[in-house]
Amino acid sequence: MIRIEQVDMIFGVGTPDENAALTHINLTVNPGDFVTVIGSNGAGKSTLYNVIAGSYPPTKGRIFLTNEENKPDREITREAEYKRARYIGRIFQNPLLGTAGKMTLADNMMLCHKKGYKGLTISLNKRMREQFRERLRSLDMGLENRLNDNVELFSGGQRQALTLLMTVMSGPSLLLLDEHTAALDPRNAEIIMNLTLRFAAEHRLTVMMITHNMSHALEYGNRLLMMDAGAIILDIDAPEKSKLTADGIVQRFRDIKHRDIASDKLLLT
Ligand SMILES: Nc1ncnc2c1ncn2[C@@H]1O[C@H](COP(=O)(O)OP(=O)(O)OP(=O)(O)O)[C@@H](O)[C@H]1O
Ligand SMILES: [Mg+2]
Repeated sequence: MIRIEQVDMIFGVGTPDENAALTHINLTVNPGDFVTVIGSNGAGKSTLYNVIAGSYPPTKGRIFLTNEENKPDREITREAEYKRARYIGRIFQNPLLGTAGKMTLADNMMLCHKKGYKGLTISLNKRMREQFRERLRSLDMGLENRLNDNVELFSGGQRQALTLLMTVMSGPSLLLLDEHTAALDPRNAEIIMNLTLRFAAEHRLTVMMITHNMSHALEYGNRLLMMDAGAIILDIDAPEKSKLTADGIVQRFRDIKHRDIASDKLLLT
């Protein structure tokens, strides 16, 4: 799906604030992988997403899109973010970011629906409303009869469910989740997590999920990455992951770094 070769991301090069957020990152994510990503604050997790999604170009190194049907690997290091948005979907912690609050639910859904039909003008007809309603019903968040309501009226959980649905409707192959359940109460976090798993399976998505919830990182996915100080320090595959515990991760970190994990929110969950 994605191959990252020798990527560095250095902010403020040549200034007193020079900061190496990513150093020598090599990573291949295979189609269908569900990778959980952990690491302390400032480890470089979101920066890794930024270079994958094209928010800014890496200082060094190359990024490739791989395993596209019948196509050779394609370098995307300098491809614009909006172009990558055709195959990369990204969801953030803040449930208000993924949808337009001042627009109705129907109009929000039209926006992502249109993405698939470039250049065509599509009006919201009866059949489409019914289709939207059907998709919303499947969320089980009580949104199917609220197509005319402005999205700002919805709860955080409803908005994040909607963001997830709209992101998936726009047809990405790779889904980048950046602590997408962290701002929700436990019940809504659970609902969003279950929806994530369902959509990933139904649409055969490749998923990377940053989380500070150690038990989520261990429970979900077939692979676990741990980042620290701009590097990937652990890359654990499915067989090993199935046996791994939170204590095991703490111990592995200690073996590699000869110190304890900084006691941030990662350890508390
Ligand atoms: N646009 C930017 N300009 C300058 N420095 C940045 C920028 N974005 C990130 N950084 C720095 O890069 C480092 C990595 O930040 P990043 O946001 O990737 O961490 P993170 O692992 O996502 O942390 P958190 O768990 O707190 O979200 C930090 O030192 C941060 O201050
Ligand atoms: Mg982050």
